[in-house]
Amino acid sequence: MTGPVTVPVSIEPAPSLRGGLRVPGDKSASHRALMISALASGSSTIEGLSPGHDVRSTGVIIEQLGARRSVEGDIVTVTGPANGLHAANSALDCGNSGTTMRLMCGLVSAIGGAHHLVGDPSLSKRPMDRVAVPLGLMGASVRGVGERITAPLSIEGSWTLQAIDYHVPMPSAQVKSALLFAGLGASGDTVVREDVRTRTTTEDMFARAGITVASLCEGEGRIVTLKPGRPSPTAWHIPGDPSQAAFFCVLGAIHPDAVIEILDVDAAAERTGFVAVLQRMGASLSREARDERISLVSASSELTATEIHAHEIPSVDEVPVLAVAAAAATGVSAFRDMGELRLKESDRFEGSMSLARSLGCRVWSEGDDFFIEGLGSAHRFGRFVVEASLDHRIVMSAAVAGVAGRGCSISGAATVSSSYPHFFRDLASLQ
Ligand code: S3P
Repeated sequence: MTGPVTVPVSIEPAPSLRGGLRVPGDKSASHRALMISALASGSSTIEGLSPGHDVRSTGVIIEQLGARRSVEGDIVTVTGPANGLHAANSALDCGNSGTTMRLMCGLVSAIGGAHHLVGDPSLSKRPMDRVAVPLGLMGASVRGVGERITAPLSIEGSWTLQAIDYHVPMPSAQVKSALLFAGLGASGDTVVREDVRTRTTTEDMFARAGITVASLCEGEGRIVTLKPGRPSPTAWHIPGDPSQAAFFCVLGAIHPDAVIEILDVDAAAERTGFVAVLQRMGASLSREARDERISLVSASSELTATEIHAHEIPSVDEVPVLAVAAAAATGVSAFRDMGELRLKESDRFEGSMSLARSLGCRVWSEGDDFFIEGLGSAHRFGRFVVEASLDHRIVMSAAVAGVAGRGCSISGAATVSSSYPHFFRDLASLQ
C-alpha cells in the first residue's frame, strides 16, 4: 500500500447475508491489458479495468513510457505510439504491485536505454532475482540490492535481446509473463517451461492481440513458445477477479445464515482451484458457466477439513481465506508445499497461521506445510484483533472471519485499496 496507515477498521458481525455482487475486474488481466495496449500501435479499449492502486501503478508507468491513456465512464482507452515505447526520464513507481514490477522488468528489458523501477517498502523486500536472472540471459542487465536483487532496480534494456529456452524453477505466472513480454522484442522464439500450470492470462491475451504463441501441456506442466511481434490494438473486456470472489465464497460457506451470489467471474481453471477445494470441504457452492465466465452461489454450510496442495491453486492467492475456511471446519486441514506464500506482499505463510490462531485454532507448521485444527461449524469465532501487515488479502480474510463470527478490529485495513478499494462497501451491501 502507498499512503498513510489509517486507524483500525472495526468489523461487526452480520446476523444474515443476502445478495449478489460483481467483484472488481481481474487484476492480472487488467495489468496485461494496459501493457499490451501500450505496446500496440494505435488505440485499444479496456472495459472493466480493476480500480485498484496496483493497476493504477501500471497505468501511470505506461504513460511514462510513451502511451496515452484516457477514461470515459467504464472504458479506458490506451493509445500506443506508432514508433513504439521509449525509456522514461524518471523512476517507474510500481507501488505495492509485484505484478507491475516483474512484468515491467520484462517489458522494459526490450526497450533500449536505462530504466529505474522502485516500489513501496513491502515490494522492496520481494525477490526480483527470479526475473533478473533469465532477463540477463536474454541480454538485458537487471541490477538491484543484494543476492535476491530487490528494488530499487536499474535495468539496461536492449533493442536486440536474444530469445531463450528457459525452465522457470518456481511456479510463477509473473516470471513466465516477464519473459514473454521481453520475448516480444527478442530475436527468435522464446520458450518458457513450467512444472506447474500457472495462469495463462499473458498467453491468452497475446493471442487475442494477434501474437503467435503456442502452449503445450506436458505432464503436470506446460511449454509456451512465443514468436516476437507487435500486438495489435484490441477491445478488452475484463472478467471479475476469481481471487476476490474467493472471499465471498468462503464468507457464504462459513456464515450461519448466508446466500451470496458472485457474478461474472473469470472461469480459467488455473484461477478457480479454490472452488473445488471448498466443494470438497462440503461447501454449498454452485457454479453456473456463461461463455468464459462463471457465476457462483455460496450458502451456509458445515465444512470438514481437507488437504490442500499448492499446485491446486498455483499462485496461492486464495490460501489466506482458505485458512479461514479451515478454521471453521471440523478436523485438521493440511496446507502443503506453501513456501511461495512467504514471498507475497507480506509473509502470508505466517499471516495465514497467525490469523487462524487469532480465531482460536491450534495451528502448527512443518517445513513448507502448515496445519489448522478447525473449530467446527457449531462454533462462532470470538471477537479478535489483527494487524494485517499491510497485506490486502490478509485484511479481507480477517474481515470475512469477523463478519461470520463476532466481529474484529483490523489495523492496516486501508491496504485493500491496492486490489479492491470498494471491498468494505460490497461487504456491507450483503447485510
Ligand atoms: C500474478 C501471479 C501470481 C499472483 C499475483 C498475480 C499475475 O504471482 O500471486 O497476485 O498476475 O501473474 P506469482 O506469479 O508470483 O505466483
